[in-house]
Amino acid sequence: MYTMQLVENDVAVITGAASGIGRTTAKTFADHGASVVVADVDADAGAETVAEITDAGGDATFVRTDVSDPDDVEAMIETAVSEYGGLDVLYNNAAIEGPVARLGEYDDDAFEQVIDVNLKGVWYGMKYGIDAMLADDGGSIISASSIGGEVAVPQYGGYGAAKAAVSHLTKYAAIEYAEEGIRANAVAPGIVRTDMIERTIEEHPEMEEQFLNTEPMAGLADPQEIANAVLFLGSDLSSRVTGVTLPVEGGYLAQ
Ligand SMILES: NC(=O)c1ccc[n+]([C@@H]2O[C@H](COP(=O)([O-])OP(=O)(O)OC[C@H]3O[C@@H](n4cnc5c(N)ncnc54)[C@H](O)[C@@H]3O)[C@@H](O)[C@H]2O)c1
Repeated sequence: MYTMQLVENDVAVITGAASGIGRTTAKTFADHGASVVVADVDADAGAETVAEITDAGGDATFVRTDVSDPDDVEAMIETAVSEYGGLDVLYNNAAIEGPVARLGEYDDDAFEQVIDVNLKGVWYGMKYGIDAMLADDGGSIISASSIGGEVAVPQYGGYGAAKAAVSHLTKYAAIEYAEEGIRANAVAPGIVRTDMIERTIEEHPEMEEQFLNTEPMAGLADPQEIANAVLFLGSDLSSRVTGVTLPVEGGYLAQ
C-alpha cells in the first residue's frame, strides 16, 4: 500500500484488466484508493485480478466485456455507475497484437479484427465513457497506444495503424470535451514483458533478440512502469495535461 493515495474515492474502469499492463494498472489504482471495474473477455483471469485486489484490501468488480461490442461497452460503463456511483477514470487498455506479417501477407479478417478491438474498442469506450463523465463533473480517459502508433515497426501494420488512430482520436476527445472537464491522453509503451510479448516470442523466437534491443534503456519494461504513467494521467497530478500521447519506452522515440 502507498501512503499517498492519488485516486482516492475515484471510480476507474480498466479494459483488458485480466492480464499484463491492465491487471497491474487495476491493482495500482486500487492501491491508490480507487474502486476499479475490471473489464475483459477472459472471465477467469478477470476474477483473479479482482481477487488480488480484494485480498489486498481494495475494491473491485469484474464485468465480462468484449470491447469490440458496443452493447458490452455500454454495460461496462453502466456497471461503474450502478456499482460505484459514477466514472472518474477510463483506461482503454484492451488490445490484440494481430499477426506478425508484412502488409502483402497480412490477412484481411485479422486486419479487421485488430481495428475492431484496438480502435473501435477505444472509440466505444470514449463514446459511453464521455456520457458518464459528463454526468459526473468530468474525468480522465487514457487509451493504450504504442511505439508502433508513432513510428512504423516492421510487420505490425494493422496494429500500428490502429494505435496511430487511437492517439489521434485522443486529441479529438481532448479538445472537444476540454471545457467540460474531461481530459483525454494516451500512453505509448515500447516493449513490455507481458503475455502479449511472450506469445509473439513463442511463435517467432527470432524476435526475442529484436525486442531486447529495441529500447535504448536495458531490457524490457515492467508493466508497473506503464501503470505508473497511467496513474499519473488518471490523477490530478496531470490536471493540465490533455491531448498527449506519453511515450513510456526507455528512449526509443528519441532516436
Ligand atoms: N506488451 C507490450 O510490449 C506493449 C507495447 C505497446 C503497447 N501495448 C499495449 O498495452 C495494452 C495491454 O497490453 P498487454 O501487453 O498487457 O497485453 P495482454 O495480452 O497481456 O493483455 C491484454 C488483455 O486484453 C484482453 N482482451 C483482448 N481482446 C479483448 C476484447 N475484445 N475485449 C476485452 N478484452 C480483451 C485480453 O483477454 C487480455 O487480458 C494493449 O493495448 C497493447 O497493445 C503493449
